Amino acid sequence: VDGPAVAAAVAARLLEERLQRPRLPLGLATGRTMEPVYAALVEQLEQLSGAQQQAIRQGWLSFNLDEYVGLVLHDPRSFKAFMAARLQRPLGLQPEQVLLPDGLASDPQAEARRYGAALAVAGGVGLQLLGLGLNGHVGFNEPPCGAQAPCRCLTLSAATRAQNAGAFGGDPKAVPAQAITLGLAEILAAERILLVVTGASKAAILKRALQEPPCPEVPASWLQHHPRLEVVVDRAALGTFLQGR
Ligand code: GLP
Repeated sequence: VDGPAVAAAVAARLLEERLQRPRLPLGLATGRTMEPVYAALVEQLEQLSGAQQQAIRQGWLSFNLDEYVGLVLHDPRSFKAFMAARLQRPLGLQPEQVLLPDGLASDPQAEARRYGAALAVAGGVGLQLLGLGLNGHVGFNEPPCGAQAPCRCLTLSAATRAQNAGAFGGDPKAVPAQAITLGLAEILAAERILLVVTGASKAAILKRALQEPPCPEVPASWLQHHPRLEVVVDRAALGTFLQGR
């Protein structure tokens, strides 16, 4: 489907999940791919009945995938600020309903363990929303990454810091060197996974992720092992994927 239709379809899927299976938390992602998704979600929520809106607002609980380590409180480039501006405040949710790892914790490795444990206590993820990094990462699971990697603090690759430099004045060195991310272990334990990929720049890595045998060099390739993986892509990201079929 085309770009705007991707965002609308994904937003509708997230709302449907909250209405039909509110038992488990949502797993959420940040990044440019998700900006139109959350905008569509805010719009679509307002079209629902008052009772449905209330059910969604009251029952909302989500765990984000990841957060940079070391950005100051309220730094607009933090994923916490991204979620507050694009989802939590527009939907009228409490901050405790939209959870992320704390990138300001004095011991990020301990914070990663705490966050992973908090997710486990909540029952794990129901529907996990995922974007795709140009180097094949999901969340911030940088290559090489095995399918059992747990929630942890890790060092970001040069490729990822370059990919995300736009938000930091274009300077990859200004991008934090470390991040906390849910691991492939927690991601693959989700009941359902929704991978969203848009833009021609992602076509090659999407094809590798879905067509090559799963391997640590393409962390997203482990998603092939998940029994309930849905992939929503626009035409540009589809590229030559379906040629010859
Ligand atoms: C980022 C995030 C991921 C995101 C991915 C794609 O670095 N850690 O959660 O899904 O990379 O980002 P974008 O949508 O901006 O291309």
